[in-house]
Amino acid sequence: MQNYSNFLSEVLITEDQLSARIKELGAEISRDYAGKELLVICILRGGVMFMTDLVRQISVPLAFEFMAVSSYGAGARRSSGEVRITLDLNTSIAGRHVLIVEDIIDSGRTLASVIDLLKTRDPASLYVCTLLDKVSRREVEVPVRYRGFAIEDKFVFGYGLDMDEFYRNLPFIGVVDLSKYEPPC
Ligand code: IMP
Ligand code: MG
Repeated sequence: MQNYSNFLSEVLITEDQLSARIKELGAEISRDYAGKELLVICILRGGVMFMTDLVRQISVPLAFEFMAVSSYGAGARRSSGEVRITLDLNTSIAGRHVLIVEDIIDSGRTLASVIDLLKTRDPASLYVCTLLDKVSRREVEVPVRYRGFAIEDKFVFGYGLDMDEFYRNLPFIGVVDLSKYEPPC
């Protein structure tokens, strides 16, 4: 794989900015759910860095679970519109306060179908917390209760977000210069 510095056009959100905003979100969620128990559902794989940092800033009792969905054709940079659940929950969400934690909302198709599915399972409440939101790209309406950062329509990577499955481990969010990025063969 290329070194990311070859195609990084700018650092959009630094590690310090991420942790400061996640602290705020954690405090807000802790206030909103005071006296309740929370079930956090992390959407794999992009949401994992955000979820693990976020739950450490939440003070109400909580459990977390994972779901995986696939919405892109291999190597594609846009949602195909066909969303498949590739890993479902192992637990019932009936009667529970569910918070979906996602890395980024683009067209909204991925989350809209996750929400539709989870609603059929009778949670006590169901809300969305996304780290990033490409507001201008929305094709399907998604109710977002907690939003880390609204961003422009640029392809970003790092802190859970990948380029062909790599670079998720970077501690910041960077913007890709697609003219310099070489996809793996
Ligand atoms: P949506 O279904 O179009 O809202 O796409 C949401 C999913 O697309 C996210 O969960 C990400 O996995 C992926 N995605 C969208 N934009 C980006 C990006 O800029 N970088 C990396 N992944 C992205
Ligand atoms: Mg994702």
